[in-house]
Amino acid sequence: MKYNISVICGDGIGPECMASAVRILEKTGERFSHSFDFEYLDAGGIAIDKYGKPLPEETLRKAKCADSVLLGAVGGPKWEGIPGIRPEQALLGLRKGLNLYANLRPAFLFESLKDASPLKPEKLPNGLDIMIVRELCGGIYFGESGTGEDFAYDTEKYSVFEIERILKTGEKIAKSRGAKKLTVVDKANVLESSRLWRKVAKETVKDPELEFLYVDNAAMQLIMNPTSFNTIVTSNMFGDILSDEASQLTGSIGMLPSASLGDGNFGMYEPVHGSAPDIAGMNKANPIASILSAAMMLQYSFELFEESRSIFDAVEKTLEDGFATADIMTEGKTLCTTDEMTEKIREYI
Ligand code: IPM
Ligand code: MG
Repeated sequence: MKYNISVICGDGIGPECMASAVRILEKTGERFSHSFDFEYLDAGGIAIDKYGKPLPEETLRKAKCADSVLLGAVGGPKWEGIPGIRPEQALLGLRKGLNLYANLRPAFLFESLKDASPLKPEKLPNGLDIMIVRELCGGIYFGESGTGEDFAYDTEKYSVFEIERILKTGEKIAKSRGAKKLTVVDKANVLESSRLWRKVAKETVKDPELEFLYVDNAAMQLIMNPTSFNTIVTSNMFGDILSDEASQLTGSIGMLPSASLGDGNFGMYEPVHGSAPDIAGMNKANPIASILSAAMMLQYSFELFEESRSIFDAVEKTLEDGFATADIMTEGKTLCTTDEMTEKIREYI
């Protein structure tokens, strides 16, 4: 089969991480006889430099025609302070423009990275495998906002339709993971919108059982009792915050991939980490989040399960061999550059 993939490298470490993901996909294509065609598109700071806007129409139009999108990272200090223009608008524009309302963020701790997790080993007797399902096209990120002389505001607004569809995704993902419960995270003791989430959740989700947690408590439980979670479904803002927290439990945010999905098979796949301008171009970045994002793409958009698994396994074996980029480096491991890490993983595919 032939697959057309739009690659948006973006800014900072985005280009080097995308180069790694592409190399891994090419090897996977060779091994399993698929052809992956890559079309490179601009978005973020680089698009501001080239076209004066973070998300050129052509990028959105071409991305819509592809089978899926792979995205590096956008943003950096270079583009701070331009009135009305921010590189991050590209990300929000792509999510909204492609109607990718469900963001899957797995927090998975590889056995060989236990030492890199800040949690005591006894907290993680059987590792960690949490899936955060974050709503991605609504809430305060896209609500009415404004500023006045001496005030500013942003509003959190959710319709039943928006809540229902993300809860259905949460339910489906929880079931596919064999979860005994689906945890809905909200702030229903304060927010009207959260109370609507609870009501709709009770009406929508049949199986598995629902658990409701306030977001402050969920943030605490993630540290105290991380293995009590399997699948979490939550709003755009809470998902943003909790996924960064969960990422640290796995050793480094440099490990975490994500998938942004809509109604069909089309999806956008990106590492959870940002553009890390301080290490950009230094061949230091951890490419694993991007490589695992490519693996998620094979799984969710192309339904190439064996191929996806082979990438995951290659990452796992490379980590077991003791190779590590700086962010996951602990005693006794071999420090690798981005390229070396990618090459080791490639060899295992
Ligand atoms: C993320 C990022 C983005 C978000 C930023 C860069 C706009 O933090 O993908 O988690 O808040 O969604
Ligand atoms: Mg974030």
